[in-house]
Amino acid sequence: MEVVVAGTGYVGLVTGVCLANMNHNVTCVDIDEEKIKKLNKGISPIYEDGLEELMLKNKDRLTYTTNRKNAYKKADVIFVGVNTPEREDGSANLDYVYNVIDEIIDSLVKDTVVVIKSTVPIQTNDKIDKIFKEKLKNINVSVVSNPEFLAQGTSIKDTLYASRIIVGVEDDYSREIMRELYKPFTEEPYNVPYVEMDRKSAEMVKYASNNFLALKISFINEVANLCGKLGANIENVTKGMSYDKRIGNKFLNAGIGYGGSCFPKDTMALYHLSKELNSEMLTIKSCTEVNKKQTLKLLEYLNNDFKNLDSIKIAILGLTFKPGTDDVRNAASFDNVKILLEKGAVINAYDPVGINNFKKLISVNKLDDSKINYFDNIEDAITGVDAALIMTEWPIIKNFDITKYETLMNEPYVYDGRNCYSLKNVKKTNIKYKSIGR
Ligand code: UDX
Repeated sequence: MEVVVAGTGYVGLVTGVCLANMNHNVTCVDIDEEKIKKLNKGISPIYEDGLEELMLKNKDRLTYTTNRKNAYKKADVIFVGVNTPEREDGSANLDYVYNVIDEIIDSLVKDTVVVIKSTVPIQTNDKIDKIFKEKLKNINVSVVSNPEFLAQGTSIKDTLYASRIIVGVEDDYSREIMRELYKPFTEEPYNVPYVEMDRKSAEMVKYASNNFLALKISFINEVANLCGKLGANIENVTKGMSYDKRIGNKFLNAGIGYGGSCFPKDTMALYHLSKELNSEMLTIKSCTEVNKKQTLKLLEYLNNDFKNLDSIKIAILGLTFKPGTDDVRNAASFDNVKILLEKGAVINAYDPVGINNFKKLISVNKLDDSKINYFDNIEDAITGVDAALIMTEWPIIKNFDITKYETLMNEPYVYDGRNCYSLKNVKKTNIKYKSIGR
């Protein structure tokens, strides 16, 4: 089967490489020449564990090109895996998706299945279907919704051993093609559950899943804030809750909220849609409000201990929105650094892989970077600072010798936004330590 994947970001590239790993011939297309050049040299344009190795393993079945027209013409199946960023009003910007659809329309010479993997608002698949039907009279295009559930940092595992494959189909032709395409994933050793449904429900599965996970995080963060006030320990609380199988133990880590390219965008998009349909989702409204506040939780601690932040030196440990990725989109670090700079603080920023992307983010947002110093090791970043704020639970931060805060910092105020250190170890030191809900 000839498969084409449009978009070589997290969703598109990982999908393409994993399909190639299942013996399909895959052409990955993108409008970005630089990305394609890198890919042709075997270099992944995104930081993702195991991706380059899998690209190498399947190199004979993988092609990378900017010649989209040629690729779409030959395709049996085209996956659309381009970005759907958030607009200022919270709705999803589908320009990239519709650009791909236009290019497909201009290129096709035979019947093709078009699979929408990008996260799109509910009913978009139907709209795309209508566009194809209106614009292509002699060629049949079947539109399939096949949402993506991969998480950054574990995306290869999340795709090969997916929790489920959700396929929204409306006709027998595409139903058969999709079954054939995904057959290897449903067999040993992968055994991924394969679930067919109508397109709109498939679209909703994606939004409902991500929004539910975001809700779990906001809920537990509010409980953690209460625990903090009561002197209870959120880790004991979630442990106690987790024995109830209906609750489980996943996505109950309290911290400084969720970031990344998915949860903030998908919560906004679902909320926006619910309002449009006159069915405002109040749970999601609260979820995003809680998250916004939680992102700045460490500043509350800081403001309690320091009356004035002008010229105070602060280490920011961890810039990415979570460990295992170089992605800084909607990372708590940015909002915190922005406020700290406004208050006149001097920043020592550390991250094992996210510094370059963070620098770009600072520059795109036109923030004055003259008061930000970047460090590639924790020791140097905390030397002589008045406070350290832990934003990301990188293993290197979690395993960092906690006594060094005491010896290297000016004042050992350590605010741990990801509960990296055990309270037992903290108690052995003289650091002035605050974490989330403990
Ligand atoms: C998420 C979904 O997990 C994935 O299924 C979907 O396809 C895309 O969105 P991702 O954004 O890569 O994936 O990251 P994820 O691991 O889900 O974490 C999102 C954010 O939630 C991070 O900022 C993380 O720090 C935070 N989080 C996660 C918590 O604060 N507590 C938790 O218990 C779990």
